[in-house]
Amino acid sequence: MIYLDHNATTPPDERVVEAMLPYLRQLYGNPSSLYRLGRIARSAVDTAREQVAALIDAPAAQIVFTNGGTEANALALSSARNRRLWISAIEHPAVTENAVRQSERYTAINTLPADTYGLVLPGMLAEQSPQAGDFVSLMLANNETGAVQPVAEWAAATRAVGGLLHTDAVQAAGKIPVSFKQLGADLMSLSSHKIYGPKGCGALVWRADVDVRPLIYGGDQERGLRAGTENVAAIVGFGKAAELARLELDDRLARMQSLRAGLEQQLKTIPGLVIFAERVPRLPNTVQFGIPGVNGEMLLMQLDQKNIAVSSGSACAAGSGQISPVLAAMGVADSLAKSAIRVSLGKDNTAREIDEFVSVLKALLARV
Ligand SMILES: Cc1ncc(COP(=O)(O)O)c(C=O)c1O
Repeated sequence: MIYLDHNATTPPDERVVEAMLPYLRQLYGNPSSLYRLGRIARSAVDTAREQVAALIDAPAAQIVFTNGGTEANALALSSARNRRLWISAIEHPAVTENAVRQSERYTAINTLPADTYGLVLPGMLAEQSPQAGDFVSLMLANNETGAVQPVAEWAAATRAVGGLLHTDAVQAAGKIPVSFKQLGADLMSLSSHKIYGPKGCGALVWRADVDVRPLIYGGDQERGLRAGTENVAAIVGFGKAAELARLELDDRLARMQSLRAGLEQQLKTIPGLVIFAERVPRLPNTVQFGIPGVNGEMLLMQLDQKNIAVSSGSACAAGSGQISPVLAAMGVADSLAKSAIRVSLGKDNTAREIDEFVSVLKALLARV
């Protein structure tokens, strides 16, 4: 199978699985237990916290493990209580649904529009004369187009009015250099399964002076911010995946950039093909394109029959038959948006796989 959907999820790295196994077998202690087995588990969780912190240049003490990016986003939004909330038009449902379904928590919810290139540019806050204390949620990189957002500028603008900024860095971490400190964000969400770690694990990073409220109550694990016995094996796997991502970042980035350049060169020989967000900084592994007159979901299923996995947008929107809200926010015409295919490369894809994908794609298009 040719797997080209790494923004949906990544295959766990074999080294990650190896690191996890002892914690599923003999090292099964509860990190809250005081005897040796418990202390070993506690120490493993703390090591993982250091490894995740190192990937995104944040203090380890300011990282809370969650069960994934979605929960991290929900936890981040708890700090927006009684504030005016701004969310960008290109956020993942893990942000938008959490915001909209709990709208009574905020004094108002406003949308930050995207431009036709897929960027959410600053300037908006000033135009809207923000009240002090507004809360902005803007993702670091978009899961569909890969467009990398000017989060540092937004963080500065938000801070200038005494507000808070959350960034969903689920897609950016491990693909491009990410520094929590340099971005100046107040809160950042991460997910393990997008960086070759296990599913069901993620983290929220927060600045010490931000008032984060727990979503669930119970024991005082994770400093009371995330009650419940820690998923030690998954946390260990996330930590290992973060360490590998940090050590191999330069190599992975260069490899994916070169693979994608080759892919785009070949794609551009297809008449009428449009690459979304092509002119702006993008994740090195992502290309989303549309081909006029083509049904994207049908093409996806035909590619699946040829053992090739791609996406038509975000995994959450896939299969719904709906137009991608991200492309809609960019003003892409419905007919073109319906033809969208997203290819997201991974560290282990090869040039041969790319060639095979393009040749199958062209053969399928010739039949349309
Ligand atoms: C940008 C973004 N945020 C959040 C999530 C959700 O993360 P998780 O699957 O770990 O809950 C995803 C997953 O697709 C994503 O792409």
